[in-house]
Amino acid sequence: MRVAVYSSRPHDERYLSRANQAAGHELVFLEARLRPETVKLADGFDAVCAFVNDDLGAPVLEALNDLGISHIALRSAGFNHVDLAAAARLGFTVARVPAYSPHAVAEHTVAMMLALNRQIHKAYTRVRDGNFALDGLLGFDLFGRNVGIIGTGKIGERVAIIMSGFGCRILAYDPYPNPACVELGVEYVELLTLFGQSDIVTLHTPLTPETHHLIDGDSISMMKEGVMIVNTSRGALVDTQAVIDGLKSRKIGYLGLDVYEEEGDLFFENLSDRIITDDVFSRLLTFPNVIITGHQAFFTAEAITAIAETTMLNLTAFETGVASGNELDLGGD
Ligand code: NAI
Repeated sequence: MRVAVYSSRPHDERYLSRANQAAGHELVFLEARLRPETVKLADGFDAVCAFVNDDLGAPVLEALNDLGISHIALRSAGFNHVDLAAAARLGFTVARVPAYSPHAVAEHTVAMMLALNRQIHKAYTRVRDGNFALDGLLGFDLFGRNVGIIGTGKIGERVAIIMSGFGCRILAYDPYPNPACVELGVEYVELLTLFGQSDIVTLHTPLTPETHHLIDGDSISMMKEGVMIVNTSRGALVDTQAVIDGLKSRKIGYLGLDVYEEEGDLFFENLSDRIITDDVFSRLLTFPNVIITGHQAFFTAEAITAIAETTMLNLTAFETGVASGNELDLGGD
């Protein structure tokens, strides 16, 4: 199968090429993000392979359809960037990588919690500057603290296990409680209780119309003074202006983001010689109690090996017509 691999970076090329040795697809690596302006690069291909910030809205899907393409392999678990109704209407088959390493994302989440709490980002620069003063670096014991996990699927479950190891009390909200979490002693509670009791709130739900801006002014107002919020899931779960207001009023004591609502124009690029024109993002960067990473929670060798292998499986399934089981249910016949 001839595949246009959009948003390709050197590691994609390396790991996908290695996984493709057995599968034998013809992969063409394109640095460009998939969007209306770049869709024509897919002319002559059988399938496109897309990442999290590629645009798979209706206009792009229609243009792909016009090029005779009906297969999309996502190199991600999340599929909130696909217009599912348009994909169904146009007869697309869209496959994703449902699980590659929940450990990778969960461990990065906990890395953010630890770094924020013990202010590792400040300590790192201070010590290099010969400043060994401890003022401003006071942390808190995680032992005995309440951690509120919203979404206890594969990643949320791993976060629950790790934080239980620190001796935290784990509260969770999920419409579908996870039996493994119940067995671990996780207490499922209503969202209001979770917001009211948690010292740390961490998000592990997909982005859907129901979860869009789950963290907004109202939910922040219900939280403890000085709460820590961590989002390694999808940017639009959080209303960015509301968290800026919460940081300014000191209601939010710590904020860790691996994802950002408008990350599409920023993340995965080296923009160090450019002017960042997103003033909301720039404001976030000014807070000393905010740590932002550029959508790297998934980025471990194990995870990208698994992404590459499952993507090859999905492409071979497109070619042979035998479902891999990773296809999205588009609600068609
Ligand atoms: P999963 O599908 O195993 O779990 C998601 C959980 O969220 C399910 O238990 C589901 O019942 C729950 N959920 C759905 N709607 C909810 C709601 N309204 N309120 C509370 N819970 C709700 O997904 P997994 O693998 O744990 O991934 C979670 C998310 O993490 C993905 O959707 C993706 O957006 C994000 N992610 C981020 C990565 C990164 O590099 N930063 C990498 C991989 C995933």
